[in-house]
Amino acid sequence: MLLQSLANYASQHYYAVIIILILLAIVVKCLYEIYFSPLARFPGPKYAAVSRIPNLYHTFKGDLVEWVTELHVIYGNTVRVAPNELSYSTPEAWKDVYGHASAGKKTTEKDTKFYGPSFNGAPDIIRALGPDHTRFRRNFSHAFSEKALREQQPLIRHYVDLLVEKLQTLVQEDPQAPIEIVHLYNLTTFDIMGDLTFGESLNLLAGSGDDSWVSTIYISMKTNALRRLGRYYPWTAFLTRKLIPQALVEKTAAHYKACKERVNRRIDPSRNAHRPDIWGIVMNQKEGLRLSREEMYANSQVFMVAGTETTATALSGLTYHLLMNPDKMAKIVHEIRSTFTKDSGIELEALGRMKYLNACIEEGLRLYPPVPVGLPRVTPEAGLMVCGEHIPHKTALSVNHWATYHDPENFKRPNEYIPERWISDEFASDNKATLQPFSFGPRNCLGKNLAYSELRLILAKVLYHFDFNLVPESVGWDKQKTFFLWEKKKLMVTLKPRAGVA
Ligand code: HEM
Repeated sequence: MLLQSLANYASQHYYAVIIILILLAIVVKCLYEIYFSPLARFPGPKYAAVSRIPNLYHTFKGDLVEWVTELHVIYGNTVRVAPNELSYSTPEAWKDVYGHASAGKKTTEKDTKFYGPSFNGAPDIIRALGPDHTRFRRNFSHAFSEKALREQQPLIRHYVDLLVEKLQTLVQEDPQAPIEIVHLYNLTTFDIMGDLTFGESLNLLAGSGDDSWVSTIYISMKTNALRRLGRYYPWTAFLTRKLIPQALVEKTAAHYKACKERVNRRIDPSRNAHRPDIWGIVMNQKEGLRLSREEMYANSQVFMVAGTETTATALSGLTYHLLMNPDKMAKIVHEIRSTFTKDSGIELEALGRMKYLNACIEEGLRLYPPVPVGLPRVTPEAGLMVCGEHIPHKTALSVNHWATYHDPENFKRPNEYIPERWISDEFASDNKATLQPFSFGPRNCLGKNLAYSELRLILAKVLYHFDFNLVPESVGWDKQKTFFLWEKKKLMVTLKPRAGVA
C-alpha cells in the first residue's frame, strides 16, 4: 500500500524525486567523508573533508598557501585539505612522502590530476611516472652534474656580465630613475636557461629577443590552475577550456613551436656543435639518447619553466628581504667586497665558501620559497606509512613549503629574515632539515646546483657593483598571490654604481 502510494507520487512528481535523490546522495557522501572515510580521523575543516571545491576556490583565488597555512595553525601538523588529500608541515613527512621506497615496497607517484599533461602529450621529467622518469633522470643528470656546471660557468658568467652592463647603462641614462629589477632577473635566468636548453641565446638582455617567453610561461601556469578544475571534475573540462582566452591558447602554441624549432636546430647533426649545454651533454653519453623527438620537445619546455621563473623568483625575494633589512645587506655587501678585489675574481668555487652569502640565500629560500605550495604525491596500492600512520591507497599527500617554513615549531621567529640562523648557535634549536625548497628524494630538483650557482653569481656580482636602495612604493612587495609559483609584483629599486671598481 505504502509502496503503491510512493510509486504514484514518484510518477506525478518526477523532478522532485530526482532532486530528492540527488540531495540524499550528497548527504550520504558528506556523512561518509566526515564519519566513515579512512581519512575521517585526520583533523581539518568539515567543508574541505566533503568537497574539493574549497581547495580549488583558493587555488583560483591565488591564496591557497595562506589558506593551508591557516589550517595548519588551527588543526596542527597534519590537515585534511580535500576529501582525499592531506597536507603536512613536519620534517619527518619529507622522507615518508617524497623519499626513496624502502626495500620491496612501492612509494608515492606524482599526482597526475595536479600536474596535468604536457603540451604535446608526451611524458617529461616533471610529469613522467615510473620507468619513464628513471630514463629521463638518467639521461639528464649528466647535464646538471658538478662537472657540467664547471664547463657551463663561462656561459652563465656571460649573461650575468650582460645584466651588470644593462644595469650600468640604465643608471647612466638616468641615475635617479627607479629600475624594475624582477624583470631584469627574469631576462637573465631566461637567457641562461635558453642557451643551456637550445644552445643559442634568446637575446633577451641584449634587447633583441622576444620577451613574451617570460610572460607566456607565467600565464600558462595560471591557466593550469583553471585546467585543474577540469581534471578533478571532468564534466567541467569543456567549460574550463572555453574560459581560457584564445590569445593565450595561441601564445602557448607559439611557445611550443619555438621550443620545437630550437631543439631541431640544436640537434641537427650538420651543426655538430660541441657545447656544454643540455643536448650537447646528453647526446655525448655512451648509452645514447633514448628520448623520442616529442619527449625532447616536452622536456625542453620543462627546462624553460622549471629553470627560469624559480631562480628569478628566489633572486627577487632575496633582494627584497636584504633591502628590508639594511643591517643584513651591509654584512653581505661587506663580505662580497672584502673577498673580491676585482670582478673577474668572482667565481663559483670561492662563492660556494662564503658563509654569509650562503646563509642569506638559505634564509631567502626559507622566508620566500619560490615553490611555496605543497606538491602532491599519490599513495601506492598497499597504502603508505607516513609519520607513523597508515595512509590508504590513492590519497594525495604533500608537505606544504610555506606552512612548514613559517611554523614556529620548526623555526624561531619564523617571519623574520635572519641569515644568522644558518651559522649561529643562537638558532641551534631550529629544525634546519625541514627546509627543502628543492624538494626531497628521487624527484628532487635536478637543477639545484645550477640554481645555487646562478643565485650566488648574480647576487655577488650585482652587490659588488652597485649599492641598492628600495623605492618606498615597493615596501610590502612580498604580499603576493600564488598560482604554483608567486605572481611577482614589480620591485622598484634605485642603484648607485661603486666608483672605480675593476
Ligand atoms: C631556486 C630555484 C629552484 C627551485 C626553488 C626549484 C624547486 C624545485 C622543486 C620544488 C622541484 C620538485 C617539483 C615537483 O615535485 O613536482 C623541482 C624539480 C625540478 N627542477 Fe627545480 N628548482 C629551481 C631551479 C631549477 C633549475 C635552474 C632547473 C634547471 C633546469 C630546474 C629543473 C628542475 C627539474 C628538471 C625538476 C624535475 C626533477 C624530477 O622530477 O626528476 N630547477 N625544482
